[in-house]
Amino acid sequence: MIPIDELQVAELQKTRIACAYLFSSQLARSDIFLKQLDFGTLKKSYLKKAKMYHPDLYRHEQKEIIDKKIERFIKIRESYEMLSSFFDEKSHTISEKTIRKGKIIAIGGAKGGIGKSLYTANLGVFLANKGLRTVVVDLDLGGANLHLYLGETFIKCNINDFINNKVSSLQNIIIPTKYGPYLIGGDSSQLGAANINYMRKLKLLNAIKKIDADYIIIDLGGDTSYNIIDFFLLADHGIVMTTCDPASYVDAYNFIKTALYRKLNRLFGPESKYKGQKDHDLEQLIRKATMPEKGSKFINMENLVEEVKRELPQSLPLLSEAILTFNPNLIVNRVPPNYNVSQIVDRIREVATKMLSINVRYLGCIGYQQEIELSARNLVPVVSKSTNCDLTKNLSQIFDTLMCK
Ligand SMILES: Nc1ncnc2c1ncn2[C@@H]1O[C@H](COP(=O)(O)OP(=O)(O)O)[C@@H](O)[C@H]1O
Ligand SMILES: [Mg+2]
Repeated sequence: MIPIDELQVAELQKTRIACAYLFSSQLARSDIFLKQLDFGTLKKSYLKKAKMYHPDLYRHEQKEIIDKKIERFIKIRESYEMLSSFFDEKSHTISEKTIRKGKIIAIGGAKGGIGKSLYTANLGVFLANKGLRTVVVDLDLGGANLHLYLGETFIKCNINDFINNKVSSLQNIIIPTKYGPYLIGGDSSQLGAANINYMRKLKLLNAIKKIDADYIIIDLGGDTSYNIIDFFLLADHGIVMTTCDPASYVDAYNFIKTALYRKLNRLFGPESKYKGQKDHDLEQLIRKATMPEKGSKFINMENLVEEVKRELPQSLPLLSEAILTFNPNLIVNRVPPNYNVSQIVDRIREVATKMLSINVRYLGCIGYQQEIELSARNLVPVVSKSTNCDLTKNLSQIFDTLMCK
């Protein structure tokens, strides 16, 4: 029900225009219709219209037609957001609900300036354009800028408000953005913003897991601190980004290695979830392999598994499962024209197999594109402008590979 009697003239006018986009101009003029409108009817109509005008359907048409459809599609989405605000919050917004597997994607890489945040923003827009409820989260607590890449130059509340208990729920700081995805933005201007303590990190991790959305994309900072690695390990799909620079791909491998080591230490160390089965000897062996003392013999994962097989056979299944289920994904970004990325990809994958006994899955690469560089300056995500550009095609292929389609 829309309380039309309580609305001011301008508000009522806006409401009627939004209704015209989602229903018809005739219905939009009807006071009875507006008063009786329920959220279910609104959502049904939105999904129907969004499907009808989805720019993907028109990608083979001429540019003017595509632009018109995009314009219409954006209006439909904005109208839906606006009309939704009249209904009970819980029924339509992103809420904290039950945990669903497969929806959290983290974008990491042990270097700054390689494109993680731009990629997160564009992936968010890409998924939202598909009609999926997508939340992008800025967890680069020390260098938050994801909001800018989504054109949100000023955000009233941010993740620090949740971390510092100023708001009780992430719900209070999730905001819709004009390009589609919802955003939990950050603010690094506060001294020590990146250095959150363990309890606060746990609180944040648990709250993120409970966000009720189709996809949650986490943008990470560019180092291998425990906080960043723990955010990465939270994800159902961990993506490690690198460029073609040696410093970047060496760091990408180190990020993967640190994440695996951290996973094993958390699983079998003091924070172990296998409380009943916690094994002190296994913990020591894992520490010896992953945090060797100076001058001690180097132990790779194969050696560790062999040793556990020999000394602690009862612990072998748990350890093997922990290693086997660690499957990071790799994207190479800012690839120069005619550059052969396979030498970088093969090298990382070979070393990961040899040293860590894991399979790194290569998702794809993104070329160096001036358009992307420019978008970082004009703060308009490339994907929001065209559904047919190179980046959209890249995103589509990479996302399908990630989801094994
Ligand atoms: N594929 C690309 N082509 C051209 N420039 C890119 C590309 N990806 C990223 N950039 C540039 O890299 C800069 C850093 O990107 P950003 O996403 O902020 O990195 P990170 O989050 O890893 O620190 C951007 O300002 C942009 O100019
Ligand atoms: Mg960044």
